Amino acid sequence: MTISQKIKAMVEESSWVRKMFDSAGQLKAVYGEENIYDFSLGNPVEEPPLFFQEELKRIIINSANGMHRYMPNAGYPETRKKVADMLKKKSGLPFSVEHIIMTNGAAGGLNVALKTILNPGDEVIVLNPYFVEYKFYIDYHGGIMKLVDTNKDFTLNIDKIKTNITGRTKAIIVNSPNNPTGVIYSKSSLEELSEILKKKSDEKGEAIYILADEAYREIIYDNLELPEIPTIYPDTILIGSFSKSLGVPGERIGYIAICPLAKDCDDLIEGMVFSNRTLGFVNAPAIMQRVLMKINGQFIDGSVYQNKRDLLYENLTKFGYQVIKPQGAFYMFPKSPIGDDLTFVMELQKNRVLAVPGKGFGKPGYFRIAFCVKDEVIYNSLPIFEKVIKQFQ
Ligand SMILES: Cc1ncc(COP(=O)(O)O)c(C=O)c1O
Repeated sequence: MTISQKIKAMVEESSWVRKMFDSAGQLKAVYGEENIYDFSLGNPVEEPPLFFQEELKRIIINSANGMHRYMPNAGYPETRKKVADMLKKKSGLPFSVEHIIMTNGAAGGLNVALKTILNPGDEVIVLNPYFVEYKFYIDYHGGIMKLVDTNKDFTLNIDKIKTNITGRTKAIIVNSPNNPTGVIYSKSSLEELSEILKKKSDEKGEAIYILADEAYREIIYDNLELPEIPTIYPDTILIGSFSKSLGVPGERIGYIAICPLAKDCDDLIEGMVFSNRTLGFVNAPAIMQRVLMKINGQFIDGSVYQNKRDLLYENLTKFGYQVIKPQGAFYMFPKSPIGDDLTFVMELQKNRVLAVPGKGFGKPGYFRIAFCVKDEVIYNSLPIFEKVIKQFQ
């Protein structure tokens, strides 16, 4: 065998999302793209906002001398200042240039953060169901993933988190709004979490970090407020992304923001900049950083996704599906009408609707729908969702 046994095993068990996305490609080739209703991947259908398109054109046309060169490993100071200002305005915390490191998306940011904080054998708590890549990222950097179930409505189960914190716990990943459930964790539950983490950090004599994966922080429904975790818990490393908020996941642009109140803030910054460089990212893409230098909150229109959520949620619940209503992101995680989520998803697939089994997110018995698709995909899929649930009723 030429590749490592570890990677071989990981490839074999890896992503159901990608498996379904690949089946979608095959089905589209057979039936035609318009006849496949593909809810498999969180690949936003909305084009980037006009601001993005125009700024990109302007940058290319007025190509500045040296704009393709290396830069500081943390990114251009002007871009980092923009991000810092955005976070400062929302949180009231003194975020400034040095607290921000531009990264290759949230995925790059998570790897940089984990690389920087983990010692071999350190445990990272992940809340189930979860974004399945966490498992691989944690493993790459010598950590051990400790899965902790959320409540039935996917809210934080504080007691379970508490009993799973050990002397080796280094961090907990808090992904809100959540993929795959769309849940936003409430301020009061985060305050409870914070109390426990502070106590456990004191006992341990070093910080247990919250890695706040906020890849969807700009996609929030019903005018809800996303609690600003660094204001609740100072030892927070926030990981953000423009993949979804600007609809540009192929461009690989995100950031790490280290809470200015974190105990070892300077060490964290130094370590993260080093890891960003030596993991081989070197720096985040230059042209994207230049676009962001001019951004002033012109993100994609979240109401577009809210309408899609409403259309899907209202109909699925009418057909008899049990679903927690998403509060943000663009995923829904209904209960599978039969215990075996894979069989159910395969039945949907036979009928040209593609979803992902819950087992792909650590939670068998459910399935995920990524509703970042065109409205007609949702409309056309509705009779199929209705027909397939009836087969099992
Ligand atoms: C929860 C979560 N975190 C991180 C990422 C990675 O996002 P990015 O494209 O910014 O790397 C995703 C992508 O789908 C995600 O769902």
